[in-house]
Amino acid sequence: KHLDETLREEVVEHRAVEDSRRIEPADVLNPFPRYRKMREEHPVNYNEEEKLWVVFRYDDVLRIVNDYNTFSSERVFARRRQDEQLTEEEREAARSLLSTDPPRHKQLRNLISQAFTPRSIAQLTPRITEIVNERLDLVIDQGRMDVVSDLSYPLPVIVISEMLGIPTSDRDQFKRWSDAIVSPHEEEAIQASREMRSYFKGIIDQRRKQPKNDLISDLIASQIDGQHLTEPELLSFCILLLVAGNETTTNLIGNAFLCFDEQPEVMDQMRADQSLIPLAIEEVLRYRSPVQLLVRAVAKDTQIGDQAIQAGEVVVPCLGSANRDEAQFPHSDVFDISRTPNRHVAFGHGIHFCIGAPLARIETKIALTIMLERLTNIRRVREIELEPIKSTFVYGVKHLPVTFKR
Ligand code: HEM
Repeated sequence: KHLDETLREEVVEHRAVEDSRRIEPADVLNPFPRYRKMREEHPVNYNEEEKLWVVFRYDDVLRIVNDYNTFSSERVFARRRQDEQLTEEEREAARSLLSTDPPRHKQLRNLISQAFTPRSIAQLTPRITEIVNERLDLVIDQGRMDVVSDLSYPLPVIVISEMLGIPTSDRDQFKRWSDAIVSPHEEEAIQASREMRSYFKGIIDQRRKQPKNDLISDLIASQIDGQHLTEPELLSFCILLLVAGNETTTNLIGNAFLCFDEQPEVMDQMRADQSLIPLAIEEVLRYRSPVQLLVRAVAKDTQIGDQAIQAGEVVVPCLGSANRDEAQFPHSDVFDISRTPNRHVAFGHGIHFCIGAPLARIETKIALTIMLERLTNIRRVREIELEPIKSTFVYGVKHLPVTFKR
C-alpha cells in the first residue's frame, strides 16, 4: 500500500473513533449495547452491589408496572420512611402520588388530573409559544445557543411555576434543588428537599390566607372523603410537581437534538411536514428515554422470567432497555421517526402513567416547531464534548451548544 493511502485510512479511522467518542463520550450516554447484552443473557439480573433486581425486557417491564399489587410503589418509600436521617415529618412527606398504591393513589391523582388533561394543557399553547419565542429572541442574533440553558431548561420550569403559582424569578434556585434531588448523593438530596419544603411552606401559608387561581390554592382547597390534605401531603405534592416535570422535559428537548445530531436530515423533513414533529418526539422518547429506570418493592413472593423473587426485595424496571427491545421494536437501535406502532414506555404505563405527558409533549412540540421555523442549519458544536447528567435515573446532557443560521 502507498504510504499516503495507509495514512489516509488511519486518519479516517481515527476520525471515526473520535466521532463516536464525541457522540457518546461515555458509557453513561450509551448504555444501549449493555442493555442488549443483558436482555439476551441476564434479562432479570440481581445487582449484588445495590441489592436489587434489574429487569431489562419489554414484556417483563410492562408486567411489573401493570401488576401494582405485587410490585408496590408505596413500599419503596416505606423503606425510606424508616430512614433514621429523616425527621418524622419528612418520612410522612415521602408519601406522594408517585409513591402511593391504590386506593390512596387514585384519590390523590383525581385531585390534579383535571389540570393535566390534554384539553386543559392545550389552553397553555399561546403562553408556551410566547415563552419559546422570548427565549429565542435572546439568542437569535448570536448564531449559536445552548439548547439546554437557553431553552429546554427555562421552558418547563417557567410553565410549571406559573401553573403552581410560584415566582418564576426563583427558578435558578429550583434548578439547584432539582439537580440535587436526582443526584446520587443522598445527603445532597435530603438537604435540597428540606430547603424546598421550607420554601413551599411559605407559599402555602400565603395561599391559605389569600387563595389565587393556581394549582397550589386548588390543592389547599381540595378534599378526600371530607378531609383536606395534610401539610406534609401538600408539600410533597408541590415538590413532586416541580421536580417531576423539569429535568425530564428539559432532557426530552435536549435528547431530541442528540438524535437529530445523528440524522440532521430529520430536521428538514419536519420543516417540510410539521405533522412529523409529534412522531419524532415519540421516537426520541423511545430512543433516548429521559427516565431510564423505575423502582418498585415486591409485596408478595413472585417470579419474573425464571427468577424467583421474594417479598421485600427491590425491583428496577429499566424503561431505557424496554424501549430498545427488539422483540417489541424491530431495528430497535435505529432512530426512525416513521416507526408505527411505537408503544414505548418512556412515560411508564398503567396507574402511575405520567400525568404530565400531555404537558411534556406540547412543550416539546412547540419548542421544536418554533426552532425549526425560525432557525435553519441547526448543528451541534461537536468540538465541545457532551457531558452526561450525573444521575442513575435520568438520561440527558448538561449542555448542548448548537450553531444555526436565521
Ligand atoms: C410519573 C416520565 C414529564 C409529572 C411519571 C412516570 C414516568 C414519567 C416514567 C412513571 C413513574 C412510575 O411509574 O413510578 C416523564 C417524562 C417526562 C415527564 C419522560 C418528560 C419528557 C412530566 C411533567 C410533569 C410530570 C411535565 C408535571 C408537571 C409526573 C407525576 C407523576 C409522573 C406527578 C406521578 C404519576 C402517578 O404516580 O400517578 N413520569 N415525566 N411528568 N410524572 Fe412524569
